[in-house]
Amino acid sequence: MIEISVPGRAGSARARVLLTGAGGSIGEAVRSRLVEDGAEVLVLTHLPGQGGAVADFADDDALAAAVAGFGPIDHVVLAHGLLEQGPMADVPPKRWRRMIDVNLNSVYAILHAAVPSMVAGGSVVIVSSTAALDRSPGGGPHYTVSKWGLNGLVRHLSAEFGGLGIRINGIMPCLVDNPMGRAFMTAEEYEFWVSQVPMKRAAEPDEIAKVAMFLLSDAASYVTGANIPVTGGR
Ligand SMILES: NC(=O)c1ccc[n+]([C@@H]2O[C@H](COP(=O)([O-])OP(=O)(O)OC[C@H]3O[C@@H](n4cnc5c(N)ncnc54)[C@H](OP(=O)(O)O)[C@@H]3O)[C@@H](O)[C@H]2O)c1
Repeated sequence: MIEISVPGRAGSARARVLLTGAGGSIGEAVRSRLVEDGAEVLVLTHLPGQGGAVADFADDDALAAAVAGFGPIDHVVLAHGLLEQGPMADVPPKRWRRMIDVNLNSVYAILHAAVPSMVAGGSVVIVSSTAALDRSPGGGPHYTVSKWGLNGLVRHLSAEFGGLGIRINGIMPCLVDNPMGRAFMTAEEYEFWVSQVPMKRAAEPDEIAKVAMFLLSDAASYVTGANIPVTGGR
């Protein structure tokens, strides 16, 4: 088991971890690992009925209020994301803006609200995508650009947070064996994609979660500003 670090906040024995995307495959895998590790998981979700705080991820004020309601935070794992397909002709500016709001602007709003309560030893992990190295094969232009934005945010904020002792890193999955990974692909196309992966299989969600746990642990104490591909070699 990889134990995540517990920053030296007075009186806290368990790490308090804000988690998004817990209703999804990767987020659920992260949640299981955090619970196993004894962390207190503060879930921020976009749909009611899943437990935790609920907010519209396109609403900055709602996100800030939800984060404030959690109190002090040690680590943040952002594993939410919307995937939509479409050539430019099918992505009018309104859809573009919604995607950027949900996938990118929400991350900024959550961090803007959460980081002031964090102390040295805390860290942030953002689930991005290898779409940020080139383009998304399954998603539209708005998805690709949202992920490029996340990688840039990791690079920029690592410089700003470094002096505070707070680390920030990104994880770039390529193909994950879950409904999002199979979205917009026929079974034949999916098998073709898998055949292009050197390890000849898609990732299990828990294989992304394990990298998140490493990044939250003292084993990664000198890792910041990294956008790490977790791709089976692709
Ligand atoms: N699956 C892949 O092959 C793959 C590849 C590369 C990158 N990724 C990235 O990995 C992350 C996790 O995705 P996943 O594979 O776990 O997919 P998933 O199972 O579809 O989970 C995505 C989660 O994102 C949240 N979400 C969806 N729509 C939202 C909206 N409109 N507003 C706010 N939150 C919303 C939901 O969590 P809540 O219900 O808890 O709010 C949802 O369960 C995403 O950022 C995705 O882009 C996935």
